[in-house]
Parts: sequence; C-alpha cells; structure tokens
Amino acid sequence: MSLPRVHLIATGGTIAGVADDPAATTRYQAGSLAGHALLESIPEAHRAASISIAQPFNLDSKDLGPGHWLQLARDVSSALADPAVDAVVVTHGTDTLEESAFLLDRLLPPGKPVVMTCAMRPASAHSADGPLNLLHALRVAASGATREAGVVAVVNERIHAASRLRKGHSHALDAFEHGDSAIGWSDPPGLDGRPEVPARMPSLLGRLDELPRVDVLWVGAGSEPDLLAASISHGARAIVLCLPGNGSLPETWSDAVHKALACHTVVVRASRTGRGRVARQPDDGGRLFAAGRLGPAQARVALMLALAGGLAPDHFFY
Ligand code: SIN
Repeated sequence: MSLPRVHLIATGGTIAGVADDPAATTRYQAGSLAGHALLESIPEAHRAASISIAQPFNLDSKDLGPGHWLQLARDVSSALADPAVDAVVVTHGTDTLEESAFLLDRLLPPGKPVVMTCAMRPASAHSADGPLNLLHALRVAASGATREAGVVAVVNERIHAASRLRKGHSHALDAFEHGDSAIGWSDPPGLDGRPEVPARMPSLLGRLDELPRVDVLWVGAGSEPDLLAASISHGARAIVLCLPGNGSLPETWSDAVHKALACHTVVVRASRTGRGRVARQPDDGGRLFAAGRLGPAQARVALMLALAGGLAPDHFFY
C-alpha cells in the first residue's frame, strides 16, 4: 500500500535553530538548518509518509510579516490543490506562530490536513523537542485525524486548534498549554471531540496583494492615549487595544477612542490577560468592537484580512 504524501514546508524558527553549546536553550540562531536536515533527524518519518520538502524562507518568526504570511498561504494552498498531496506540514518559529496559524486557518480550504509545528529548544540542544514534534506532526498529518478540524499545531504531544492558539510562556517546553487551544493528542493521533471551526474564506486569498497596517497598543494603568493619534497618523486603518481585564477602556482613553472612530479608524477592545473572552459592551457598535475569543495578535490579523477583503471588520471574530 502506498504511503500518504505529505508536503513539508520549512520556514525557520527554533526548531531549525543551532547553538554552539548543546546545553544552550536561550542563546542560539533560529532558522539555521534547512528542512531536509530536520527530516534527517527523524528517519522513522519515512515509514509514515512519502515526504516532499519546500523552503520558502528560513527565518526567526519575529522577523516575519504580512508578505511572508501571504507567501506561505499561497504555498500551502498550491500544495493542497495538488491531487497527489494528502496533507501539508509547516515548521515555524513559536514566537509568532499564533499569527501565521490564524491567517492560514482563515484562508485555506477545508479538507486536507494542515499541521504546523515548532520547538522551544534549538535542534542542537540535548533533549531538543523539535524532532519529536516534527515526527508527531507528520504522523498526525498522514493519519488524516485532523481533516475538517482546520489548521492545527502539534506541539509537546498535543494537537492545538489554530483559531485559539496562544503562546503563553517565554521559555517553557509547554509554552502553548496555558490557553484553551488543546483539542487532542498526537500519539496516537486523535481529537477529543469535534472542534468548532470559525468562519473561513479561501476565496479571499486570490484577492490579497498586501495587508493594511493594523497596530496593537498595550494599555497599562496610566498609559497615555496620545498613542492612538500617533498610530493613525502613521497609517493604521485599525487599532487593537490590549486592555486590562475584560477589555476595559480607561476613562482617560475615551475621548481619543471617539476621535479615532470619527476618523473612520476601527478600534477593537482586546484583553491583555491572555485567556477568556472580551464581552460586548453597550458602547460597542459602528467601528468599535469587542475582540470576543480572539487574542490581540489574532484580532490584528483578523482585521487586516477583513479590511483588505472589504468585509465587515469583525468578519473573522467569534
Ligand atoms: C522563532 O519564533 O522563530 C524563535 C523562537 C522559537 O521558535 O521558539
């Protein structure tokens, strides 16, 4: 029997990182190894799938931006359209995985599995987590277990829904286990239930040349509201406010927000807590929205997509 064909797209990150000391877990160069080198460390993978490899870039994910996201979305989309390809796996840095995963989840067609993976320790470290994460990602993809579940990330033996993914720790191996994104296990591959898959719009990808500027402003006690006007003057079409608690807007920001709305800028109330929902308030409406279940990083991507596509700003919120 022929093996499932999995297309591996390597984009960099710590999973491809190298340090000169095998004990180093925080000082290393991300995006050093090519995709074929990652695959060489897990020869068992070839028993699970027939694997092709592409490497559109090899970067630390902090250095990615909308241009890379759209390129990645197009590469994954072309691979999915190939009748010979059964699933796609993407290796990526952990730092901005939530943005890329969210964008892919909204723009790719349902059906064939798309599995992202990453690592907290560089490939050169003793007890590196990358090889097992990649092997599990390839096995999950080849198994078809996440077909119809949208884009997922396989990390530290868990399967996470891209729509809820949040990196919640700066250096722990279980950096993605502090939210509510886990929907299954990778060994053996299986989902705990049928995950909710929010609105997707694959037809949008072909219409996107670039994404508009959307800024995120982190609001602390006593933060100055003049940051809003500065963002708008630099071209932001929408602003996500990363607010205390349940997206609670300080009184001192009220005038600045109303001025921004009057200038046709979209303003979204998100929470800086990292978990939970931001509930609608009586003042929401028009161009002011609550982020709902989206974290600030995801709300920013959702707004970029919606504004670029001429959709309602909250089209991708849920
Ligand atoms: C990156 O995001 O590319 C570096 C950090 C990591 O992958 O853990």
